[in-house]
Amino acid sequence: MGLEKGAEPMTGYVTRDTIIETVEYIRSHTRHKPSIGIVLGSGLSPLGERVDDVDVIPYDEIPHFVPSTVPGHSGRLLVGTLGGAQVLLLQGRTHFYEGYSTAQVTLPIRAMQYLGVKTLLVTNAAGGIHPTFAAGDLMVITDHINLVGLAGHNPLRGPNEASFGERFPSMAPAYDPALITLAEEVARGQGVTLRRGVYAMVAGPSYETPAEIRFLRTIGADAVGMSTAPEVVVARHAGMRVLGISVISNVAIASLEDTQEMATHDEVLEAGRRAIPALVALVEGILTRLARS
Ligand code: HPA
Repeated sequence: MGLEKGAEPMTGYVTRDTIIETVEYIRSHTRHKPSIGIVLGSGLSPLGERVDDVDVIPYDEIPHFVPSTVPGHSGRLLVGTLGGAQVLLLQGRTHFYEGYSTAQVTLPIRAMQYLGVKTLLVTNAAGGIHPTFAAGDLMVITDHINLVGLAGHNPLRGPNEASFGERFPSMAPAYDPALITLAEEVARGQGVTLRRGVYAMVAGPSYETPAEIRFLRTIGADAVGMSTAPEVVVARHAGMRVLGISVISNVAIASLEDTQEMATHDEVLEAGRRAIPALVALVEGILTRLARS
């Protein structure tokens, strides 16, 4: 299943040699030189259909890439133009809960760094915790609580490779304030409501108990999901500017009042599908502005 892929068998760490092999393969399979990376979350793969002049590279052909085992996550790397910008897009991501280490799930972000990506746009499906959030809402991520990282699964754990970044990278801020403002301006111009909030990462794959949702609300989370934070840590270590957008796929906080409201994976995928048109317009609008600047 590839659980051993990407990372050193003895240590579980991702090395420079690994990344160089990955990057050489990707370079030799695309005409483009993207400076913007995009990660698509659960149910958001259709955004990939909007990429023009596209070079498609299946994950299982790329050295050291690990395949996603989750329904709703196709495993393809797309390189092309979107909103007038040259992008490298991960159509499908791998997760910690699949059994991979956070170093393995972030290997594509490290490859983006070596390919010259300077700006990362991460998307995900998340459960809404802020009481005013509804399924189908879009939320720009202002900060995260990396519960998995805080518990010891930080993707930077292990020897620090100096060409990747510094030993103790700052995460304040992790999400670029200027990009947040840009996203809010684009959303306003499109008449789209864009929430703002803090994303908490949990390991999953089980959804949260009502007590866990209460805990997440207490510690300041507005949304909860099972991805993104490790990718953002690696992107910041790599010196990239990061923008994060969550699709609120279910109202996790509803479980506090009514246990019938607990999330299902199908519900998450369906909300993703419904939010696609607004998300596509927002992302294309943001990329158009970035391509111009
Ligand atoms: N909890 C955790 N992860 C999620 C959820 C949720 O309610 N919805 C989508 N991803």
